[in-house]
Amino acid sequence: MSGDGFTTRAVHATGEGLASVRQAPASVPIYQTSTWRFSDGDEFVDVLNGARAGYAYGRGYGNPTVDAFESVLASLEGTEAAFAFSSGMSAIHAVCVALAKSGDRIVVSRELYGGTYSLFKSVLPRYGIVVETVDPHDPEAVRRALPGAALFYCETIANPLCTVADLAVLGAACRDAGVPAVVDNTFASPYLCNPVDHGFGYVVHSVTKMIAGHSDLVAGAVCCTASTRDAVRRVALDTGGAMPPFEAWLCLRGVETLELRMERMCASAMALAEMLAGRPDVSAVHYPGLEAHPHHERAAKLLRPGLFGSMFSFEIEGGVEPAARWCEALEVAWIGASLGGTHTLVCHPASTTHRQIAVEERRASGLSDGLIRVSPGIENTLDLLADFESALGAL
Ligand SMILES: Cc1ncc(COP(=O)(O)O)c(C=O)c1O
Repeated sequence: MSGDGFTTRAVHATGEGLASVRQAPASVPIYQTSTWRFSDGDEFVDVLNGARAGYAYGRGYGNPTVDAFESVLASLEGTEAAFAFSSGMSAIHAVCVALAKSGDRIVVSRELYGGTYSLFKSVLPRYGIVVETVDPHDPEAVRRALPGAALFYCETIANPLCTVADLAVLGAACRDAGVPAVVDNTFASPYLCNPVDHGFGYVVHSVTKMIAGHSDLVAGAVCCTASTRDAVRRVALDTGGAMPPFEAWLCLRGVETLELRMERMCASAMALAEMLAGRPDVSAVHYPGLEAHPHHERAAKLLRPGLFGSMFSFEIEGGVEPAARWCEALEVAWIGASLGGTHTLVCHPASTTHRQIAVEERRASGLSDGLIRVSPGIENTLDLLADFESALGAL
């Protein structure tokens, strides 16, 4: 190395250690770098153009830690490839913009996460994309709407009423109409369902939730084919939103226990939903694991045998006040946004996230006054049952 000034050494004197590590570490290293060195300009250009393997820059040109997470996720979803984003919303935005352009029409489920609904209502129309909403449980309406559409979009298990989409029927309708099928598989996670088996070419995730699993980051992903991944990646190159390396490392660590967490969380959801369904102070329980749920049979066919998801919602008799009081009386579960983490989280939309929305509008979107969404964590199921029952006793 030429130049031995103090700061020159501080910047350059890393030796050759990094390049000469021979053994593979048990944990994928965090390549916490935004840029990479090239031996000459030709290599730089070749890597940028994809003519030579290598890394160039963090905003969608790849990073070994992010690559490792994408490989794991693609394997779990059964897709050829995946592209990782810095949030679920950036993943959803990218797949829509990759597939639809100004003047196109897209067909979307009317049962969607609020942020996705807002993207479709407020952002995509400003790009000149026409958004048509359909009832995903009316296959004839979906078939009528599909011809000529740039994409179809739905959620495997919808937020927050936990309805279950008939992915086989919807995937076949998209295939017949030649329309790319996109599904948000966040609530199910790849452990419960692989939508590619049902004809969905694009599977999006809020990786923030079950996959990362510890409520310590925000991330997203699109799982698709190797060739369609390129169009999705192009959007990240042009608009930003690629996953950073430290988040990728946390996701790699989190996803290792996805099966164990989902097994526990689904078991707790079933136990809690069954207990709540037997209570006089609870007017409804929305959980596909209950035989009374309108999509119980469908969920049994679609999801991993014996499991019906970890998310459920229920309605407390008496409306806004008792529901808010029930949440506040909990001691093990926390009141909070998000879901899919190790801690049990509950959310009462009418007194929190949706309190500014006009009452009639909120009710019309299925969020009744007493509705509470529950995301069981991995705590002991008996502790959660006792916590929920004692909070009901405090009403
Ligand atoms: C089903 C679903 N999809 C997408 C998102 C958006 O993901 P993110 O918050 O990671 O941007 C969420 C967030 O709550 C969600 O619940």
